[in-house]
Order: sequence, then structure tokens, then C-alpha cells
Amino acid sequence: MSKSVFFVTCPKGVEYLLADELSTFGLDPVRNAPAGVWVEGSLEAGYRACLWSRLANRLILHIDEVDANSGDQLYDGVVHMDWQQHIPVHGSFRVTFLGQNEAIRNTQYGAQRVKDGIVDRFQANGGPRPSVDAKNPDVIVSARLNRGRLSLGIDLSGHSLHMRGYRTDKGIAPLKENLAAALLMRAGWPEIAAAGGDFVDPMCGSGTLVIEAAMMALDMAPGRKQERFGFEKWPGHQPELWLSLRQEAERRAHEGKQGRIPRLAGFDQDSRVIATAWKNIQRAGLESIVHVEARRSTLWIWRVTGPIRGWC
Ligand SMILES: C[S@@+](CC[C@H](N)C(=O)[O-])C[C@H]1O[C@@H](n2cnc3c(N)ncnc32)[C@H](O)[C@@H]1O
Repeated sequence: MSKSVFFVTCPKGVEYLLADELSTFGLDPVRNAPAGVWVEGSLEAGYRACLWSRLANRLILHIDEVDANSGDQLYDGVVHMDWQQHIPVHGSFRVTFLGQNEAIRNTQYGAQRVKDGIVDRFQANGGPRPSVDAKNPDVIVSARLNRGRLSLGIDLSGHSLHMRGYRTDKGIAPLKENLAAALLMRAGWPEIAAAGGDFVDPMCGSGTLVIEAAMMALDMAPGRKQERFGFEKWPGHQPELWLSLRQEAERRAHEGKQGRIPRLAGFDQDSRVIATAWKNIQRAGLESIVHVEARRSTLWIWRVTGPIRGWC
């Protein structure tokens, strides 16, 4: 299978963890960037990252880079690219544009010029052209401007992968799912779970940490509850390959429940937020695995002279 280049975005500070995680899917590092990692690998590895990455936000398939020192230069680069490979002629697309420079001072203008270049390319071919759909497009074109260069790609994830589909209700100040996963990885939770350890979050709020901990310990793919990804109507999509990866994820989730299951518990003093956590646990399919309870916890803070007992 031929190799492609991907730009995978993540929260700032998570780049090194993400690079390690992506290498387990077969995506080799090219370079790290602020809030993202450039990698290369097969489409299968890209699909695997969409389904299994606990740390990524978005996975962009890199297509090309063009000069963009002015709006016209940007347009000229875009209009000469082969968009039929990436956007269905009878389908729809949207452009997300990030960055600005002296000539392209706002993202709306940048997105407009990219869109014009794409549409004109189809019209120059003499055939039908895709429509623009800002809300529910078939394909999302990602455009990232860095000084005088514009990087263009297809957003294969289609949504931020931190949204796993289980957390529609939140408490106060909820942790993003991929940040919770990063914390757990930095704390060595996967190794602790494999060595027979248990997990408790004494101030669990809507349950993000304990749910992410459970999904890691039980080998559950974080994207397995997602109904839609950005590649499904992309002309390069390989449905059979994707189906086989989804089936593999279901099998692993089933097998994960057959082995040793750690004790996983979350407590919170607020019974309303515990009700929210419980709904999230049910949506994640973890009701027989994770225990939550309304309970106030005592917080111990250690300082040089000794412990201070207090309430959070
Ligand atoms: C920042 S929120 C936790 C958010 C959580 N990580 C999430 O993603 O939803 C802090 C939680 O701690 C709880 N809390 C504060 N003091 C507590 C205590 N002494 N015992 C139990 N829960 C406490 C609050 O009710 C609140 O839900």
C-alpha cells in the first residue's frame, strides 16, 4: 500500500505523546509542529488513527503545498491542483482555513479564494461541479497558512476526535477526552492496569477520566461509537478496509471484557453530576464496568512540614 503524509492535530503539549501513539498504528514521524505531528504511512494506518487515537484532534491527509503571498497567488496554486481525486463531482465540500499573513488577513477571505480555485478547477474540466455546504459537507478541505505557504489537505476525521460520542452531558469544567487520556498515559495508567492495578477518581465530575481509563484498560477503541467520519464520501475511501478495522475493534472490545477487569470507580460530592457521569458511562457501554457514587472525599495536601487535611 502506498504511503501518504498526514498532519495530525492535538492539544498543545501532547505532541510527543501523540507521535508515540501514532507510531503504534504504523504512522512514522516526519516532524513535530505546535499542536500537531506530521507523519507518514498507509491509508490503513490513517484509518487506524481515526478509530484508535486517544490523543488526536483531527487527522488531515496532506495533498499539496502552494505559495500564498497574495490572494491571487494562492488561487493560482489551488486552481492547478487535481481536486477530482478528492471531492466527488456531484457531492459537496467546505473549506476550513487557518492562519493569516500580510496579504491574507482573514480566514474568511482565504477560505473564499480556496473555494473559488476548487470550483473553477471543476468548471475548467467542463463537467459538473460540487456544491458548497457549510454545515454538512461530504468532504472538508483543510487549508493551513504559514507565512507565504498554504498547506492543503482533506480532513479524514471530519470532526474533532476528542469527541467520542459518549459525553453529551457535562459537569462543571469538564476535561476534554483527549486531555484526560494524555494525563492517564503520562501517569502510566496503561502499565498500572496491565500490572493488575485499580483506578479511582475521587472528584470525577462527569466521569471523563474514569471512562477513558476504562476504555484503555479494556482495549476499547475511542472512535468505535462514532457514526460518521470525514472520509466516508471522499473518493479515495476504501470501505472494505474500514469495515475490517471496525470489526477488529469490536472483537478487541469483546476480548477486553473477557480478561481481568480492574476496579474502576468515580466519586463526586455532587449527586447531580454523578447522574450525568452515569449517563455517560451507559452511553460508553461501561455500566457493568465502572462504578460511580455521590460521596465527598477528603483531600490531603502535603507540604514540607507535613500533611494538611482539607476540603476541596
Ligand atoms: C473540575 S470538576 C471535575 C471534572 C471532571 N474531570 C470531568 O471531566 O467532568 C471537579 C469536581 O470535583 C467535585 N468536588 C470538589 N470537591 C470535592 C470533594 N471534597 N469531594 C468530592 N467531590 C468534590 C466537584 O463537585 C466537581 O464535580
